[in-house]
Amino acid sequence: MIRRLGSDTVVNIRMAQNLPQKNEEYGTKDYWEPENSTFDWFKKYAEVAPLIREALPDTSARILMLGCGNSTLSEDMYDDGYKNIVNIDYSGVVIEQMRARHHESRPEMEWLEMDIRDLKFASDSFDVAIDKGTMDAMMTAKGDVWDPPQSVIDDCTKEVDEVLRVLRKGRGVFLYLTFGQPHFRKRYLTRPETTLDVKEIGAAFHYYLYVLKN
Ligand SMILES: C[S@@+](CC[C@H](N)C(=O)[O-])C[C@H]1O[C@@H](n2cnc3c(N)ncnc32)[C@H](O)[C@@H]1O
Repeated sequence: MIRRLGSDTVVNIRMAQNLPQKNEEYGTKDYWEPENSTFDWFKKYAEVAPLIREALPDTSARILMLGCGNSTLSEDMYDDGYKNIVNIDYSGVVIEQMRARHHESRPEMEWLEMDIRDLKFASDSFDVAIDKGTMDAMMTAKGDVWDPPQSVIDDCTKEVDEVLRVLRKGRGVFLYLTFGQPHFRKRYLTRPETTLDVKEIGAAFHYYLYVLKN
């Protein structure tokens, strides 16, 4: 199947075979247990590398990848010099596959089964957190996008609470890459004592990179 999204063309046979019956299935763990392949939501690293390098000049930064899935983002960042990456996903299957794929060739990366709403890390322990499409997966519950169900508000709020807790105070950076327009995302990302910058990516169909600093 070929999906055209403005100037972006995404070709993925696995997705075509496994499109969910209902949108809400994107919000379940079962849906994300993948075949042993790779798939990237929205953008590959090469397309956003200049923005990431600008936001993260220190390649030794300790980075938390939230809902890594079977994306190539972490391996591409690793190969670009960002070696200190901890990858988490609530799908144990995907974490096992990713660990098996990378543990020899990229030994410094870690792979942990974990829920982004309940991080098992100490406070002030990461320089950077990255979410590419993961908060979006928690926004697929049935309901009005203009007035989301309380469960969606709670899930997204918990993620951002947890991210801000584990980021180093005063110098942490949260990068969130999404198709979600500012009206639908800023409510979760506007917090006291933080700054939020939004960068638009693309031409006809826009993606957004939210840069939240504490
Ligand atoms: C849209 S995919 C994005 C995957 C990857 N970040 C990418 O860019 O291709 C969403 C991923 O988030 C994971 N996920 C969804 N909700 C999660 C949660 N509450 N905690 C941890 N992982 C979650 C899913 O298992 C899936 O791998």
